[in-house]
Amino acid sequence: MTFVPPGGAPITVSAPTGANLLRVAMAYGVSGLVAECGGDAVCGTCHVFVSGIEPQQLGATSEAEDELLDDAAEPRRANSRLACQLAVPAAPGPLVVTVAAEQWRTLR
Ligand code: FES
Repeated sequence: MTFVPPGGAPITVSAPTGANLLRVAMAYGVSGLVAECGGDAVCGTCHVFVSGIEPQQLGATSEAEDELLDDAAEPRRANSRLACQLAVPAAPGPLVVTVAAEQWRTLR
């Protein structure tokens, strides 16, 4: 799977199935993720766009995640998710996780 930081080069990583996507990104030094709340799904500053995988492979969006994405600094897209709420799927092969360039406006 690959992370794409804002304005940066793609970073291809490997991580075990079930690993938290935010933690994986942090471990590999992926820039652009603020993650102000540390992964508790209350800040919305780990906004990413996922592609290259069927959405159901990443599980459903919770109500809390859904609300935070509605208020994200960078406008929500159909493939928006919060990295802290995602786990590495069993077959992540072509998964691409692009970090939203704007993360801060949700902090009010
Ligand atoms: Fe705060 Fe993901 S780190 S919502």
